[in-house]
Amino acid sequence: MKHIFNSTAFILLVFIGFSCTKPNKGTLSSPNGTIKLNFYLTSQGQAAFKVYYNNKMILDESTLGVSLYEEPDLMEGFRITKTEYRNMDETWEMPWGEQRYVQNHFQEMKVLLTEKDNLKRTYAVVFRLFDDGLGFRYEFPQQPHMADLKIAEENTLLQLTEDYTCWWIPGDWDIYEHLFNKSRFTEIDALSKRDHPNLAQTYIPFNAVNTPFTMRSDNGTHLSFHEAALLNYSGLTYEIIPDKLQLRSILVGSERTPYKVSVATPFHTPWRSIQIADKAADLISSRLIVNLNEPNVLGDVSWVKPTKYIGIWWEMHLDKSTWDYSGTQDMSASQGARPHGKHGATTTNTKRYIDFAADNNIGAVLVEGWNTGWENWIGTDKREGIFDFVTPYPDYDLQEVVDHANSKGVRMIMHHETSSAITTYEQQMDTAYALMEHLGIDMVKTGYVGTILPKGEYHHGQFMVNHYHRVIQKAAEKGVMVNSHEPIMATGLRRTYPNDVSREGLRGQEFNAWASDGGNPPSHLPTIAFTRMLAGPIDYTPGIFNIKLKPYKKDNQVNTTLAQQLALYVVIYSPLQMAADLPEYYEGHPAFQFIRDVGVDWEQSLVLNGEVGEYVTIARQERTTGNWFVGSITNEQTRELTIKTDFLDPNTTYKVTLYADGNDAHWDKNPLSYTISHPIVSSDTEIKLNLASGGGAAISFIRETE
Ligand code: NOJ
Ligand code: CA
Repeated sequence: MKHIFNSTAFILLVFIGFSCTKPNKGTLSSPNGTIKLNFYLTSQGQAAFKVYYNNKMILDESTLGVSLYEEPDLMEGFRITKTEYRNMDETWEMPWGEQRYVQNHFQEMKVLLTEKDNLKRTYAVVFRLFDDGLGFRYEFPQQPHMADLKIAEENTLLQLTEDYTCWWIPGDWDIYEHLFNKSRFTEIDALSKRDHPNLAQTYIPFNAVNTPFTMRSDNGTHLSFHEAALLNYSGLTYEIIPDKLQLRSILVGSERTPYKVSVATPFHTPWRSIQIADKAADLISSRLIVNLNEPNVLGDVSWVKPTKYIGIWWEMHLDKSTWDYSGTQDMSASQGARPHGKHGATTTNTKRYIDFAADNNIGAVLVEGWNTGWENWIGTDKREGIFDFVTPYPDYDLQEVVDHANSKGVRMIMHHETSSAITTYEQQMDTAYALMEHLGIDMVKTGYVGTILPKGEYHHGQFMVNHYHRVIQKAAEKGVMVNSHEPIMATGLRRTYPNDVSREGLRGQEFNAWASDGGNPPSHLPTIAFTRMLAGPIDYTPGIFNIKLKPYKKDNQVNTTLAQQLALYVVIYSPLQMAADLPEYYEGHPAFQFIRDVGVDWEQSLVLNGEVGEYVTIARQERTTGNWFVGSITNEQTRELTIKTDFLDPNTTYKVTLYADGNDAHWDKNPLSYTISHPIVSSDTEIKLNLASGGGAAISFIRETE
């Protein structure tokens, strides 16, 4: 298969709008007709709809409405006053991404509802049907009796028609760092999965799940529930009502207000999205979430540049070195604390990393623990005022480091661990981002460890959604890309703000270094690819070669083979990819060549196969070079997969290198067993991949001159 489009940007825009008024219902089809929706009012005058896929009902009567604080609810007693239809077919260009061109093709229906009695208040429901799923949202026009809205709860109720097999994490208003569970919908018991080590989260007392929430029917239809364009609103969780096959929205709350969202009209909610696919692989190819977001508002974003990076990071997670300088609680460096000698972020160590990056086709270096405050950053409520994000420890010369990086053509990544002391971070932001501008640093990794201060706020509530948004905007003003840890979940805002490049929002590699529950099992990433990854790019930090973590950790290890660590650069999408291990484990290692070679920005991506939680194979073509890379990963199950290489250009010759599990490889018993070979392939051949238990394969196809 060749490029879908040639290099001249091809932008097609068809935009037809018309409106009509119907008494009490409306129907809508996706462009190719596979998805259909009926909208109507119940006998109580409540908005309701049903959804059909390939003429089979997949959502039975599902109802809409919101409860307001100290005002009558917007639920029943409505009539339809207007129905408008619109369709869109455009192709837009991603400044960076899984592919260059994205088709945004949908049919839209907007139904305006007005109260029959009472205050004659109005709201609208807008549906967009794509061929790969749908989105709907509530819109609240400005009106006399609704100048502002205090939403106590959104009452979106979705009615499934069968008992799906589901992959879920418990509803949690602070963190997504959970292992996925697999069960039938009727057996989801999130309350029993709340006892989790290492986390500072607050659990909600509901049998609820976080999104993306992926499920498969017995006949193979896959659904994934999430949200898009989350701005100025609280995050969404779904309560599971197992015996009724229902999902009911529960917005993330705040202990500081008796309502969950406070906004002024006109206002619209984020999109509630449902991706629909015949096969699991198509969920990953779906661009529904970004399509439901507004176009780029930043203009020229050529300064947003995807890159690989290394960092002074894993060595702290391994306890080889520390973030802090003195280890003396309540004494900062400026108060004269004496260094304990294990501090990781020293000028000398950073230069070593910079040199290594420059020698190995790695564009950037992250340094954590560079700024004062790490002696007292965690575990108490006295976190405000600890970090200022501008004062380095005495053994770290910021200017010298930046000068050295510049001389080597390497970019530095700033680190802002806020410790969730939000007031401090907001107060310091101007100064902190001005420092970055002054130094010419164009990337920041932010972090939000711990419960939120002010107390009573949650990571995923409206207060924090607005904070994360302000950070993206401030960073954009200063030409800075943001990679956020302990973030709000991605909802496709990277389309609107292309500097919103990556985030954590899952149990990352770090858990393998210190989790007391054995780390991330081999099924973790084959599940993540079909769940969390549907939301957007992931800073998973792959590439650990010292799988057993010796001599640093006795009781922890990475639960994959080495070949799988390579495959993750292709499978787990991010425009920032860390080579997370210590440079000494890469030096002289033949398999490191794959990390040197692999791209981070893609012309196109093809999901070649996959089943949720089991295995997945993805091929991606690099934008700048036209080189192809393939990654394939499996869970505990060994697997033989055959992939066609018909994506290669028949008129080009490629140097092909296959990094595979050795015959005796096994994630636990023999993770370092791997082979490197150079199979002869062309666009009409196949490659057989033998994946070990917890294993993987990575292939590079480097173009040779034609
Ligand atoms: C948790 C983040 O996920 C990790 O990457 C970081 O090193 C620590 N917090 C310290 O900020
Ligand atoms: Ca984390």
